Amino acid sequence: MKTFEKILLKNMEQPGYAGSLAEYERAGGYQALKKVLGRVPPADVIDTVKQSGLRGRGGAGFPTGVKWSFIPRDHPGPRYLCCNADESEPGTFKDRQLMERDPHQILEGMAIACYAIGAQTAYIYIRGEFRLAATILERAIVEAGRAGHLGADIHGSGVTVNVYVHAGAGAYICGEETALLESLEGKRGKPRTKPPFPATHGLYQQPTVVNNVETLANIPHIINRGGAWYAAIGVPPKSPGTRIFCLSGHVKRPGNYELPVDATFRDLIDDLGGGMRSDKPLKAFIPGGASAPFLTPEHLDVQLDFESVARAGSMSGSGGVTVMEDGTSMVWAALRLMEFFYHESCGKCTPCREGSAWIVQILQRILNRQGRPDDVRTLEDICGNIGGRTVCAFGDAEIAPVQSTLKYWRSEYEALIAEAGALNAGRKDIPVLSVS
Ligand SMILES: Cc1cc2nc3c(=O)[nH]c(=O)nc-3n(C[C@H](O)[C@H](O)[C@H](O)COP(=O)(O)O)c2cc1C
Repeated sequence: MKTFEKILLKNMEQPGYAGSLAEYERAGGYQALKKVLGRVPPADVIDTVKQSGLRGRGGAGFPTGVKWSFIPRDHPGPRYLCCNADESEPGTFKDRQLMERDPHQILEGMAIACYAIGAQTAYIYIRGEFRLAATILERAIVEAGRAGHLGADIHGSGVTVNVYVHAGAGAYICGEETALLESLEGKRGKPRTKPPFPATHGLYQQPTVVNNVETLANIPHIINRGGAWYAAIGVPPKSPGTRIFCLSGHVKRPGNYELPVDATFRDLIDDLGGGMRSDKPLKAFIPGGASAPFLTPEHLDVQLDFESVARAGSMSGSGGVTVMEDGTSMVWAALRLMEFFYHESCGKCTPCREGSAWIVQILQRILNRQGRPDDVRTLEDICGNIGGRTVCAFGDAEIAPVQSTLKYWRSEYEALIAEAGALNAGRKDIPVLSVS
């Protein structure tokens, strides 16, 4: 693998670095904020981020500078920035490390983003289970405020940015940006119908930017070193930069790895992850969190950028790469993921609410050797009636494990159903399973 410079994990990989304000400042922290406040017009900051080509790291990959430019400049009321720290996608654990180990990198990115969009108030919506990260962030906000990096009249520029940490109750759906806004407003976290989009009708119906933790952590570096510098890394012009990939599953060295996105899954899994933990070969991997369709060993040389993974039939999503070795039952893997989605469905849309339960029931009975001859067709039918028919992308996410395992390992489904046929031949009393 070629050598490259880390951007986001660089500080925290220095021996002894604990993420305090003094350490962050010694590493050049808050220089980017000072560089722009009152000196560079907000529109030019947005242009720099646009030029960098940075795309959102929360899953959808929307260009960050373009998103910021949607905030109406002439809006008379408040605007908001929400940092999405919900990170509930199974197999994804990068934002947590960024928050716990280098919180000021995120806060500086947030302050610059607020300046660029004209927001005075920013929230970090953090998943309820991340108590340690929330405490670290709260401490860092106080530190930054005392040093004049946050609060009123930052460094005498007349700019005010106040940041608050808001812990959710641990619901996956609250990572979806409009459900996040509902939850932040004190309501049940259920997604809103779009349009209108948060850029014009977001938090309290005011213009709002929602950005992922990792997205915002990139901002100080882009401001310090320029949009062109960032745009030249990775796979320009569409997928520039590095990303943090969360490697988990049957590998020797699971963990968070920052890589330029022109590296491949083989670089990540074999070189950095040390390959498979046992002598068994790789069977399957999820390239971008539980919502991303499975890929196979044939896809190991696919590059990690958005377009390459999409061309391979999946998505790089949240950067969570989960690896499975030979011998893993893919019907079982689909069930484990589906149980998560069934549990987390917010219930707003009928296809997702009902469909997730039906899929779990069918997968359970197939694995319990009670599958019926038409179960595969029924699964395909249910998936077809969920995809594209829900208010948010949760519906598309939850069918990915089923559709992709059916695509590559259909024979495993058929073998289990055939076994059930042989076992139960002649029986009329097969119990119907119910989802608990
Ligand atoms: C069901 C669901 C869950 C999501 N969870 C998260 C999450 O935990 N963190 C996150 O940053 N984005 C999550 N997203 C994506 C957000 O809706 C949104 O696109 C993102 O926060 C925008 O930030 P970005 O442009 O910086 O990526 C989720 C989307 C869906 C549909």
